[in-house]
Amino acid sequence: MSKDFDGRSVIVLGAGSVGPGWGNGKACAVRFAREGARVLCVDINAAAAEETAAIIAREGGKALAHKADVTRSDDIEALVARCVETWGGVDVLHHNVGIARVGGCVDLPEDDWRHIMDVNLTSAFLACKHVLPVMERQGKGAIVATGSVAGIRYTGVPYVTYYASKAALQHLMTSVALEYAAKGIRANTVLPGLMHTPMIFQGLPDAYADGDADRMIAVREQQCPTGAMGDAWDVAEAVLYLASDRAKYVTGTTLAVDGGISMKFT
Ligand SMILES: NC(=O)c1ccc[n+]([C@@H]2O[C@H](COP(=O)([O-])OP(=O)(O)OC[C@H]3O[C@@H](n4cnc5c(N)ncnc54)[C@H](O)[C@@H]3O)[C@@H](O)[C@H]2O)c1
Repeated sequence: MSKDFDGRSVIVLGAGSVGPGWGNGKACAVRFAREGARVLCVDINAAAAEETAAIIAREGGKALAHKADVTRSDDIEALVARCVETWGGVDVLHHNVGIARVGGCVDLPEDDWRHIMDVNLTSAFLACKHVLPVMERQGKGAIVATGSVAGIRYTGVPYVTYYASKAALQHLMTSVALEYAAKGIRANTVLPGLMHTPMIFQGLPDAYADGDADRMIAVREQQCPTGAMGDAWDVAEAVLYLASDRAKYVTGTTLAVDGGISMKFT
């Protein structure tokens, strides 16, 4: 039986996970491979990239681990070149890298603002800069970015860089989508809501519950209309749909994977 990504090459930026378990990028990389893709697992943490590639290999899939800092144009240029040289092109770019640091305009150091903008937003610009010419030559390609409900709503956590970078990221995707629509290239953004992933244990227990991770989980679950957070596989499902030919007429849009939380009034 044919699979959605048979013979396709996929780049996942941020394919590792900051802690044990399943992060969004790791789950996406594994799901792409299960659907037949060859996956370039990119991460600044070489061991994390290798772990994801090893999971894929153990399952009989095809993957390469690639260490890169996505804030560096030369790193991105090299990883795109590696994908093209190894597999002949880039069918899908999945931009998953994203970090958060709690702080409002007054207390957040300027360097933190610049760093988070670089990691969450400039990296997507750089990835598009290097991958779009490849996709244009191919006459096709799909780009899926991982935004956040925080790009469209204030979630209660005061992290100004996260809100601003995620809002800009989704509009960057929209502008790419419209500029390249007639060239067979699509670009979309998934908006995860409150998800149960390793990333939420980085800094958020302080913001939610004075450092108490169990209480943070309880607060987040209680905020969700379904009574439970989603997980990385929920995000992966949406990313794979948007990257697939099943979404061939879907571009320039966002898909919330949030159990309805962005539609909630209180
Ligand atoms: N978990 C949630 O509740 C939630 C909600 C909304 C959106 N998101 C988004 O999901 C994405 C993260 O998902 P995840 O679960 O895979 O996170 P994660 O932090 O577990 O994994 C991301 C990977 O990116 C890597 N990385 C960080 N900086 C990098 C850099 N400069 N260059 C290359 N790699 C780098 C990390 O090493 C890590 O392995 C982010 O974009 C985040 O904003 C998460």
